[in-house]
Amino acid sequence: MENIFDLTGKIVLVMGGSGNLGTAEVDALASFGATVLSVHLHEDGLVETRDNVIHIDADFSNKEEHAAVFERIKKEYGRIDVLVNNAAYGGGSGGKGLALEIENFDDESWLGGVEGNLGLTFRSMRAAIPLMKEKGGSIVNIASMYGVVSPDPGIYGDSGSNSPVTYGVSKAGVLQLTRYGAAHLAKYNIRVNAITPGPFPNERTLANKEFSAKLADKTMLKRVGTSKEMGGAIVLLASDASTFMTGSNVTVDGGWTAW
Ligand SMILES: NC(=O)c1ccc[n+]([C@@H]2O[C@H](COP(=O)([O-])OP(=O)(O)OC[C@H]3O[C@@H](n4cnc5c(N)ncnc54)[C@H](O)[C@@H]3O)[C@@H](O)[C@H]2O)c1
Repeated sequence: MENIFDLTGKIVLVMGGSGNLGTAEVDALASFGATVLSVHLHEDGLVETRDNVIHIDADFSNKEEHAAVFERIKKEYGRIDVLVNNAAYGGGSGGKGLALEIENFDDESWLGGVEGNLGLTFRSMRAAIPLMKEKGGSIVNIASMYGVVSPDPGIYGDSGSNSPVTYGVSKAGVLQLTRYGAAHLAKYNIRVNAITPGPFPNERTLANKEFSAKLADKTMLKRVGTSKEMGGAIVLLASDASTFMTGSNVTVDGGWTAW
């Protein structure tokens, strides 16, 4: 059987290809042979370095910089085969205290949180379509368990990792954008699927052992995820192993949302 997971020759754009999950996604995509264009904030933290990974700095909250990424790819590569929407930013994306109560959540945080999550995913899909529609392609939107179920405020306490209202609302929107996109882009043979990650705490959150244990306890497998466990789903959806999948949501959450 041919290797249906092989990504050799594919131009894969990862929006937010650094950090906790982005680095692992880029690693998986590059190790299956893709040419990966990894776009993210300029940072010295976690980044994957391989010959077939090209890093591009951009701040997506600046709409000109966001648009310039797609202009550059059009000029240098002429197409995108796979788009991974991994980045999220914006007002009210975590923190503690009363500002997280709905009654105190201000308009600026609301608009910033929705724009940096759902809005960014929409803008990136819209910009990628002209570069994909001639040959077809695959769009992979990174959602969250909190787009499916609500955070349980009881486990967060003063951990500082509280999830604001905009986060889950945006991720639920990302799941619907995925279905809408799948329905309307099928005519170009562009598939649109989502991945719903569960708890993948970063180093800072892991250092809070009490809180990490509460996260682990919410899963059926009784542990949190490690970022490389995103690799299987991302390669599946990027590759020809999923040519009959569109509009779907692949859940990688240790069972968090299944009970
Ligand atoms: N870590 C988790 O437990 C978890 C769970 C569910 C869903 N997710 C989702 O997975 C994705 C990645 O999460 P993570 O934990 O790896 O986050 P992270 O903060 O470690 O990485 C975020 C990435 O987005 C990029 N980014 C952020 N703001 C940007 C901006 N303004 N311009 C350009 N790039 C920007 C960063 O450079 C980085 O590459 C997010 O969409 C997140 O909502 C994460």
